[in-house]
Amino acid sequence: MKTLLINIKELLQVRDASVLKVSGDAMAVLPSIKNAYLLIENDWIADFGSMNDLPKINADKIMDATGKIVLPSWCDSHTHLVYAGHREQEFVDRINGLSYEEIAHRGGGILNSAQLLNETSEDEIYDQSKVRLEEIMRLGTGAVEIKSGYGLTVDGELKMLLIINRLSQNYPITIKATFLGAHAFPLEYANNRQGYIDLIINTMIPKITQNQLADFIDVFCEKGYFTVEETEQIMEAGIKFGLKPKIHVNQFNSIGGISAGIKHNALSVDHLEVMTAEDIEALKKTNTMPVALPSCSYFLGIPYTPAREMIAAGLPLALASDFNPGSTPSGNMNFVVATACIQMKMTPEEAINAATINGAYAMGISDTHGSITIGKKANLIITKPISSFYQLPYSFGSNLIDSIIIEGEVLA
Ligand code: NIG
Ligand code: FE
Repeated sequence: MKTLLINIKELLQVRDASVLKVSGDAMAVLPSIKNAYLLIENDWIADFGSMNDLPKINADKIMDATGKIVLPSWCDSHTHLVYAGHREQEFVDRINGLSYEEIAHRGGGILNSAQLLNETSEDEIYDQSKVRLEEIMRLGTGAVEIKSGYGLTVDGELKMLLIINRLSQNYPITIKATFLGAHAFPLEYANNRQGYIDLIINTMIPKITQNQLADFIDVFCEKGYFTVEETEQIMEAGIKFGLKPKIHVNQFNSIGGISAGIKHNALSVDHLEVMTAEDIEALKKTNTMPVALPSCSYFLGIPYTPAREMIAAGLPLALASDFNPGSTPSGNMNFVVATACIQMKMTPEEAINAATINGAYAMGISDTHGSITIGKKANLIITKPISSFYQLPYSFGSNLIDSIIIEGEVLA
């Protein structure tokens, strides 16, 4: 057994194992221990407490973090970080006045990425994607969900999920895979929508689940993409094969996707830039985690998820990056947390809860990730010397991470 003892200025997000998510007013509380110790055994948290109560421990290694703050790694529950190439021309097109929807109508957008992905070899996409994975690890992400959805063909979707699984085998960061075949309709199915849905249901889902390549199923439920009725069909097919839904809803329009997700016991409903009072009401007393993606709002210049209204209604909220080539070419969770504070008026306590324990919940892993709890994975962020954790969102453009620990291993 390998042991590491850390001596810390403040240990954040200290929780009981019974806390799997936090909602409403409780989000404003971020339990912490000042002048703390943390003991890691192999890849898990073995003990922690106040330095005043430090038991006699003969640790293999001791780390001095006396001016520094330690918190659980970010849990980024929504990304599309496996993709080929870039879409910077669309970025410039939008600067020049085109909207995200107009670019998609011209055959750009998701279909542009799908063409690139299908033309690029698996090894090449793996190499491009691992750079992004390594980058987010250095930025403090210790668990991440990655979606398919740029294949839109049987082979392309399988290729993406194989890459996600390969990343998961080769890196210590926890990875969850989501099948998002229903991301857009390929051009050849523009006049045969049910034909593509049948391909998803009858071919893609069985193949993917047979090879255990995905944990969840996703659908882009939105005007111009998948209707509520189509979304329900696909969720139901996924559920039959053991894939829990986590869906894209209410990015541009509120068309009933939230209620459909709740009806199918979705683990999360994500985006939520456009929320009606009924949508907020529907989420109350459910097990579905609402997930906001503020970097997407920032990059596209669309509304931010109304976090204050949702928290005031007693809802939980998670924050994720949405890292993808079209709407959010950034996987920086530090920026996500800062933007949630600055633009969505979440307090630092709320934003950190949303990006750790609630993000873990939105990936179905809050029993092992997302808080400082005995028995959970030793996936941690160690900050540079800072005066308080408020500095994390306050100094929004600075990298305040000194080092990270993933599965008990320190990475500088
Ligand atoms: O979550 N909205 C749908 N999907 C992605 C964007 C995909 C793309 O533009 O490539 C999102 O924002
Ligand atoms: Fe997304």
